[in-house]
Formats: sequence, C-alpha cells, structure tokens
Amino acid sequence: MAGNRGVVYVEPGKVEVRHIDFPELKDPSGRKANHGVILRVVSTNICGSDQHMVRGRTTAPAGLVLGHEITGEVVEVGADVTTLQKGDLVSVPFNVACGRCPMCKAQNTGVCLTVNTARPGGAYGYVDMGGWIGGQAEYVMVPYADFNLLKFPDRDQAMAKIRDLTCLSDILPTGYHGAVTAGVGPGTVVYVAGAGPVGMAAAASARLLGAAVTIVGDVNKARLAHARAVGFETVDLSEDASLGEQIAAIVAVPEVDCSIDCVGFEARGHGHSGSQLEAPATVLNSLMEITKVAGRVGIPGLYVTDDPGGVDAAAKQGSLSVRLGLGWAKSHSFFTGQTPVMKYNQQLMQAILWDRINIAEVVNVNVISLDDAPQGYAAFDSGVSKKFVIDPHGLIQRAA
Ligand SMILES: NC(=O)c1ccc[n+]([C@@H]2O[C@H](COP(=O)([O-])OP(=O)(O)OC[C@H]3O[C@@H](n4cnc5c(N)ncnc54)[C@H](O)[C@@H]3O)[C@@H](O)[C@H]2O)c1
Ligand SMILES: [Zn+2]
Ligand SMILES: [Zn+2]
Repeated sequence: MAGNRGVVYVEPGKVEVRHIDFPELKDPSGRKANHGVILRVVSTNICGSDQHMVRGRTTAPAGLVLGHEITGEVVEVGADVTTLQKGDLVSVPFNVACGRCPMCKAQNTGVCLTVNTARPGGAYGYVDMGGWIGGQAEYVMVPYADFNLLKFPDRDQAMAKIRDLTCLSDILPTGYHGAVTAGVGPGTVVYVAGAGPVGMAAAASARLLGAAVTIVGDVNKARLAHARAVGFETVDLSEDASLGEQIAAIVAVPEVDCSIDCVGFEARGHGHSGSQLEAPATVLNSLMEITKVAGRVGIPGLYVTDDPGGVDAAAKQGSLSVRLGLGWAKSHSFFTGQTPVMKYNQQLMQAILWDRINIAEVVNVNVISLDDAPQGYAAFDSGVSKKFVIDPHGLIQRAA
C-alpha cells in the first residue's frame, strides 16, 4: 500500500508534517464507504478557520490531521460510485454532506444531518465536524463522492487555472455566499470587514455581482495595501477615525447598502489602542451601525460555541456583547453558518474558466510544498497578505 503524509495539529502554535495512514473507503465510525473515492491531492489550502484551531482557540484535539480545502485527482473509486472515474480532476466542497437527508435535499449542505453524530454539519480535518480526516496530505478519502465532488470539464484547462480553481473548495464560495446573503447586486455600496483571504474573496464576489463600490476594512496595513492594489477602496480600523467617518470620506454618507463580516470571533477592537486588543463583538456591532435600515448582513466569519482562549467567561462559551437592539431597530437581517459550497461552486468554476474573476490574484495565492506547511502556517498567522496553497505532489509546480 502507498504511504501518506499529512499536516497534523500538535499543540497551540505547532503543526507538523507526519506519516499518516493511507485513506480507506470507511467513514469515521469504521463503516465501509462504497460511496467514497480516494483522491491524490493536487492542491490543499491553509485557511483562517485552521488558524482558530492552531492558535488553541477551539477544542481541537492533538493529532488531528488538518485540511478542508481540497482539490484532487480520483485514484480509487468505491463500488457504489457511478459518475466518477480514475483520473478525474475534482474540487471538494469543504462540507461533508450525504446528499440524502432533508437538509442536503434543500441545498443546505453546511448542516447535513447525517455526517456528524455530535451536531449538524461535517467537514474534513475540523474540530466538532464529524471526525472526517483532513486533506492537507498526499491522499484523502471523500465520502458520498457522486454528490460531493465537482468534476472539472477538462484536465489540461483545469491545471492551467489550478491556482484559481483551488479557491472553489471554500473561500470563493464563502466570500460569494457572504455577498449574496448581504444582498449585493448591481450598483450596491458594499463594506467587507476583514482583508484576509475570505474578505478578499467576498470583495471579488461583490465586484462580480456588480457592486458600485466595495470598501474593505482591516487593522492590518499590509493587507489593506494589497486590497488597494487589486482595485478596492479601503478603511484602516487601526486609525482613530470611526468606521462610519471613514466610509463617509469615500461615499459621502456613513452608511452602506450591504455588509459582510469576514473576520469572526477573533476580531480586534477599533482605533489606535483598541486594535491592539481582541474585542469579539466589534465587527457585528460596527456592521449594525453602518448598514442602512432593512439592510442585510452576511456573516461568514466564524463564531464558536466554545473558546478556551476567550477574552472573558462569557466569550469562552461563545456569548458576545452583541447590541442586537440596534440591528432590531434597523430591521436588519443576519445570515450565519458554514457556507453551503455546492450551491455556488459550479457557476464560480465557470466564472474562473471564462476569466470573469481573477481570484488567485485577488487573494494572492502562494504555492508551497507539503514540507513547508508549518512555515506557511506561521507566515499566515503573522498576517501576510497571501493565501497559502500546499502542492503535496509538486503537480502545480510541474504544470506551471
Ligand atoms: N462560514 C464559512 O463557511 C467559513 C469558511 C471559511 C472561513 N470562514 C471564516 O472566515 C473568517 C476569515 O477567514 P480568513 O481565512 O480570511 O482569516 P484571516 O484570519 O486571514 O483574516 C481575518 C482578518 O480580519 C482582520 N480583522 C481583525 N479584526 C478586524 C476588525 N475589527 N475589522 C476588520 N478586520 C479585522 C484581521 O486582521 C485579518 O486580516 C475566519 O473566521 C474563518 O474561520 C468561514
Ligand atoms: Zn477554509
Ligand atoms: Zn445530508
């Protein structure tokens, strides 16, 4: 049997590349999974969601094999798989979904009812998401493959755009979902909180959806400089001028039509001194201030139920001081949760293949080897404006 190596969470601040088992067509309970396939991983990305675990901000256990953003080549096909063959190049939605339960049938694949015994929703390599083994590895198993996988129409065409297509497993559909749920459309004024990869994907999605102007905010000057370089307006929340004042300096009023939280629970406060400290409700509260009445707030940024590193006892249980009264008074709508990737990935794939979106450039894709994954994690954690993509077999380098 071939070997396998993967990125393993060791302790807060530490991941290691280790030998791990070659995947089997079995689910986490050990039951045979003839509906699955085994993939040779072509690309697998490091995500801000992984960082929450690696920073020790979740209850992720040591030894967890990381990786939920996976693109790969089918190398083994389960007996019950009907639409896929060895050699197919596929994008894997980060959600593990069965395709059979009422939520999957309604396209709510982020909260599949059967793939996780602890709560609705499954994912690869993620705490509390069902125990599915992660794909920051050479090989990975994907269950319910007919349902879950998006096959690229042409292998050579796909390899030529692989740096963009690798974003289909999570961040591009996630940014897009944030924009769609926030009501972005032709001529809208949009604010995106967070200039990380998800925020940049949301900004690119807003542009694709026809936004008149997209303003990206962060406390990280390097990331803001990159956002400007790829064509967005920016606001710097480490400055003392308020978010509303900075928005007014761009669009003449302290208000936007649509807003998207691409930060989540590890949010910094605003202002020169505030931005030095974590203040987890900052983004949600500031979005209620600047979103017009009856507006919609997309919230792909992650909020957890348990946070060992929370700023106070309430935050340790995911309870934040959210000023809901303000949002209620303004008739705001809020959209939360894991992105149902499958709702969007087919169309976004076509948008990439037909050059309607330059996502790799916007998120600044940086390809690294599997052995360099620990350095990739450390660099991403330091806040560089890059999206790290692991190339475990050197296939991307060879295709370039
Ligand atoms: N809903 C989903 O399905 C889904 C999918 C992928 C990622 N996520 C989540 O999306 C979030 C963003 O992911 P990422 O990979 O871009 O992470 P990231 O950590 O690289 O980016 C977050 C950015 O937010 C900035 N920030 C901090 N406080 C801020 C504030 N008050 N205002 C504006 N910006 C602020 C940080 O400086 C950082 O640049 C994470 O919480 C991640 O877990 C959710
Ligand atoms: Zn992700
Ligand atoms: Zn399901």
